[in-house]
Amino acid sequence: MKNFTSVYDIDNLQEIIAKALKIKENPLENPTKGKGKTIGLVFLNSSLRTRLSSQIAAQNLGLNVLTLNAAQEAWNLEFADGTVMNSDTVEHIKDAIEVLNQYCDIIAVRCFAGMKNKADDVNESILSQFLKHAKVPVISLESATRHPLQSLADCITITENWTENRKPKVVLTWAPHIKPIAQAVGNSFTEWMQQMDVDFVIANPEGYDLDKNFTKDTKVIHNQDEALKDADFVYVKNWSSFEDYTAMPKVDENWMLSNEKLELTNNGKVMHCLPVRRNLELSDEVVDGENSIIYQQAKNRIFSAQAVFSEILDEINSKD
Ligand code: CP
Repeated sequence: MKNFTSVYDIDNLQEIIAKALKIKENPLENPTKGKGKTIGLVFLNSSLRTRLSSQIAAQNLGLNVLTLNAAQEAWNLEFADGTVMNSDTVEHIKDAIEVLNQYCDIIAVRCFAGMKNKADDVNESILSQFLKHAKVPVISLESATRHPLQSLADCITITENWTENRKPKVVLTWAPHIKPIAQAVGNSFTEWMQQMDVDFVIANPEGYDLDKNFTKDTKVIHNQDEALKDADFVYVKNWSSFEDYTAMPKVDENWMLSNEKLELTNNGKVMHCLPVRRNLELSDEVVDGENSIIYQQAKNRIFSAQAVFSEILDEINSKD
């Protein structure tokens, strides 16, 4: 694996899920694979799970870890080419990436959607600069349109929780929020579910359809109760309008997942990437209930990251 920014960087999804589950059994099986190598974890946005699970995964492989909370700790970055930097930006992203090339064997970056310019976000204006200027493998820790390490952890979690000899029904359902949120988690989960052996359905209110480039032929239902019927897994996530970019069209029905709504499912397991706004996206009773596999998902972030770092190290080590 050269870079990891989407499901399309994976050769075989079932193999990497199996690899992650093997790592979970013994996370310290390869404690020197990353010896003498450095991974730079660059966060342009906040994080709890991605930051800590990536650090644990890297340490389990013997990697040196440099974590840069760039938004708080580094110079104010300029992203546009050709700008006269005579205002409040101090360092151009090109120069920052060239310097990271000197220090790191792998660069991992979190760069959320700016939510100001649709074209910039759709075209991954920041991640694309890392892919262009990095001379080492690049890993996405969530970009404008995707969150691949989360999605791999989600696939691992579904695999662990499914023993029946039929395809599970997986529903990605929209949930309410107080402010515009990017579509990255929804897009990414959709792409990964399209590669899994599952019956996958998206439920969202009118006006909240995800980008067709991600949903493709996936069934989109605008009635949550209809979508939830017989679901084995319910993945809850908010996103703002893609079509009327960042808008939050009014929704009359209550889309918060409650125990009452869960009754419609086939004793469905509840998933959320966290952080979750309790009693807005999901009721307390659901987050804390016996169908919730949310913390298992969060734990699996370690093994998702470790499986990916391990594959990238195999590629690097093969060239040493
Ligand atoms: N799920 C997730 O990516 O969590 P963080 O934003 O805390 O990293």
